[in-house]
Amino acid sequence: MDNEIQSGLKQAMRVYPQGVTVVTTDSNGPKGITVSSFTSVSLDPPLVMVSIAKGSALHDLLRGAKSFAVNFLADDQKSVSDRFAGRTQAKEKFEGLKFSKGVTGSPVISGARAVLECTLWKAYEGGDHSVLIGEVVSAKTLNSKRPLVYYLQQYTTTEQVEYPAPPSDIVW
Ligand SMILES: Cc1cc2nc3c(=O)[nH]c(=O)nc-3n(C[C@H](O)[C@H](O)[C@H](O)COP(=O)(O)O)c2cc1C
Repeated sequence: MDNEIQSGLKQAMRVYPQGVTVVTTDSNGPKGITVSSFTSVSLDPPLVMVSIAKGSALHDLLRGAKSFAVNFLADDQKSVSDRFAGRTQAKEKFEGLKFSKGVTGSPVISGARAVLECTLWKAYEGGDHSVLIGEVVSAKTLNSKRPLVYYLQQYTTTEQVEYPAPPSDIVW
């Protein structure tokens, strides 16, 4: 049961729009989890962070991983987000999903807006979550689609469209 602070925090976080990512790693095959608690931390060295629930199936694996990738989802990838959030029946999360292996070997999901590949720099205790700091070893913007955004417990996107397309635009 939530106390007053916890339910207030959840309610407030619902009105804070967040981009949606899938954090992937390779460990006896491709693995991934939907994560919106992503942010950049430092430019020198280049660090980013994600916060992973200790109760999630991938927690121990990610905490012990050498590397992981942060796939920024595009607005046509709601079903990808649902799949990696365990909201669909998909037994094997990568089944039927196109992906390639990045420089660290972590899965790069086809159609993602951008991908950051990281080596695990440090992991911190964060209450019922672990805060994983990754050192970015590769950063790629892959296309000019609109981003997937989570707001008011629903998927949405931005009005703004990137134009012209970035030079690194790749059609998968
Ligand atoms: C939009 C969205 C954002 C999420 N962000 C996070 C997050 O930042 N950290 C986290 O641990 N779980 C997050 N989750 C929940 C996990 O994706 C979900 O609990 C997990 O994949 C369940 O998998 P499991 O049943 O295999 O543990 C998010 C879910 C959604 C739909």
